[in-house]
Amino acid sequence: MYNSKISGLGYYVPDNIVTNNELSKFMDTNDAWIQERTGIKERRWIKEGSDDTTSVMGAKASRIAIERAGLKNEDIDFIVFATLSPDYYFPGGGVQLQEMLDMKTIGALDVRNQCSGFIYAISVADQFIKTGMYNNILVVGAEYHSSGLDKTTRGRGVSVIFGDGAGAAVLSRTNDNTKGILSSHLHSEGKHAEELIVSSPSSKRWINEIIDSNNKEDESYYPYMNGTFVFKHAVVRFSEAINEGLQANNLRVSDIDMLIPHQANLRISQFIQRKFKLNDDQVFNNIMKYGNTTAASVIIALTEAWEKGKIKDNDLVVLAAFGSGFTWGSVIMRW
Ligand code: UT7
Repeated sequence: MYNSKISGLGYYVPDNIVTNNELSKFMDTNDAWIQERTGIKERRWIKEGSDDTTSVMGAKASRIAIERAGLKNEDIDFIVFATLSPDYYFPGGGVQLQEMLDMKTIGALDVRNQCSGFIYAISVADQFIKTGMYNNILVVGAEYHSSGLDKTTRGRGVSVIFGDGAGAAVLSRTNDNTKGILSSHLHSEGKHAEELIVSSPSSKRWINEIIDSNNKEDESYYPYMNGTFVFKHAVVRFSEAINEGLQANNLRVSDIDMLIPHQANLRISQFIQRKFKLNDDQVFNNIMKYGNTTAASVIIALTEAWEKGKIKDNDLVVLAAFGSGFTWGSVIMRW
């Protein structure tokens, strides 16, 4: 068995900053409400006319990560791409990355686990490296939310939260068993699938209901979230996933050097920080600047924390996420 470690990190967010005050120009919301309930000050939304898409942003983040890993695109053996907002209904974005990055005809796997997408993706990549099947895997999380949000007052409970962006990691084989990914734990509870959902377009409703009715007011095109319900489950599952990872490795909370929680809501991160009695240097948040970028959030935050020098050699880094599905999980790594 081999170990896998992150050898390169990169992220990309669109230039276009949308502040809370700007949102209040087209929906009934305000900066105070958004900051108080979510901690978000601004997010990035792709500007109309831009060439950015989910896979284009993913490719931009990937180029940075591959270069930082000291590799060339042709050294990558496999792609794992997590998103809930692919460019096409099918095929998934993985093949687009293969094409945009001019890679060999390597395998490209699409992961659909929403906010937990990056946790699932890195866990899958880790297994391929552990078995010796691949040496270098590109793991990407990217989201283009802003094209699919209800930007009227009707959608304000959801739309103010989400932002666009992408992050990428190169996972590489290492023979040093003391470094890299120590464990990953993945979970799901499908009975809550409809508590956070975009239910159309879907194969279930395609022809008769969607094409025939052609109803622009159909709310099922937009994300629906039972916010309070999701919040309550999130704080419980985040805690479980972190504890599960620590226990599996005979580690204690005091061993955590850096926790990177999925950036769902600053209040959720703060709740977890208080619960685990972590200080400000042990938890990294950037939801204030980018909002919730779903599958991209953990990898953007990990990259930013690393760029700011907050993650050092030998640090114990914990990644944790919870979201639509419900799905949740954690990854523990020794840097
Ligand atoms: O990333 C995947 C996982 N996602 C999460 O973990 C998110 C979890 N949930 C949340 O973060 C929070 O539930 C939200 C931030 C989404 C909402 O916060 P909340 O404190 O649960 O607010 P609420 O939905 O209960 O709404 C409270 C009030 C309502 O008005 P009334 O009925 O009390 O008069 C809403 O209509 O706030 C109103 N409201 C808004 N007001 C101004 C909802 N959205 C907005 C808004 N601006 N954007």
